Amino acid sequence: MARAVERAVMQETATGLGDLRERLDSARSVTVLTGSGISAESGLPTFRGVGGLWRTHRVEELASPQGFARDPRLVWTWYNERRTAHKGVEPSPAHAALARIEERVPDFTLATQNVDSLHVRAGSRNVLELHGKLREAKCTRCDARRPFDDAFDLEAIEHECGGMWRPDIVWFGEALPQDVLEAAFAAAHRADLMLVVGTSGMVQPAASLATKRVTSAYVVEINPEETALTPEVDRSIRARASDVLPQLAT
Ligand code: APR
Repeated sequence: MARAVERAVMQETATGLGDLRERLDSARSVTVLTGSGISAESGLPTFRGVGGLWRTHRVEELASPQGFARDPRLVWTWYNERRTAHKGVEPSPAHAALARIEERVPDFTLATQNVDSLHVRAGSRNVLELHGKLREAKCTRCDARRPFDDAFDLEAIEHECGGMWRPDIVWFGEALPQDVLEAAFAAAHRADLMLVVGTSGMVQPAASLATKRVTSAYVVEINPEETALTPEVDRSIRARASDVLPQLAT
């Protein structure tokens, strides 16, 4: 870890937030990038951590167009389980804190890699769901969409147009929704403060939003562990999201 980040980590850990609260109060434009770590505090598993989804499932078979083509019922079974898990949990204090912070910042954008709708349920308004949302299904052939509120009937996967219903999720190897991605890059570009919360920074293009190639913002990571983004950020606070964000929201 670069000496400057190491010093900042020690300073943050020792003194709490440092001048982060002042930076937030004076920020004109704030962008926040979140990952599954913020939802870990609601009780949902992350992807790569201990007990994470990718520790117990096969990525290529469950979250890829090839996997869906090979066994759509298996993929729907997995997403039905995740949808049920999402409905069984509540937004964490960290989700709620971000919704409160949004009220105080003139220009606030929340770009999330999460599909669990917890930011929306917590009251966040300007939310860019980079990897889709597990609230809708879409047809593989036409542009039909339908709600995905309860378990999807495995006997009703075919759509009348001849296509198949699939979760409205961006799978590995697929492009992110262009309008959402452009809005996220524009927000990162104009931000003067960026918070990166609960992501390992392993997946592109989402992680690139927090790099100096994309943003000139002062970037602060909030994560109990080092990540692929730690060397790139201005400060890395070794803490859980709910240890930091509620303090910033008061
Ligand atoms: N507070 C903050 N961060 C936390 C917490 C917490 N309470 N608990 C865990 N974390 C951190 C972990 O240290 C880790 O760095 O959350 C991160 C979770 O990383 P991943 O499991 O890789 O999840 P994520 O970064 O969201 O994955 C990105 O990859 O699998 C694809 O599309 C999927 O959106 C996902 C993307």
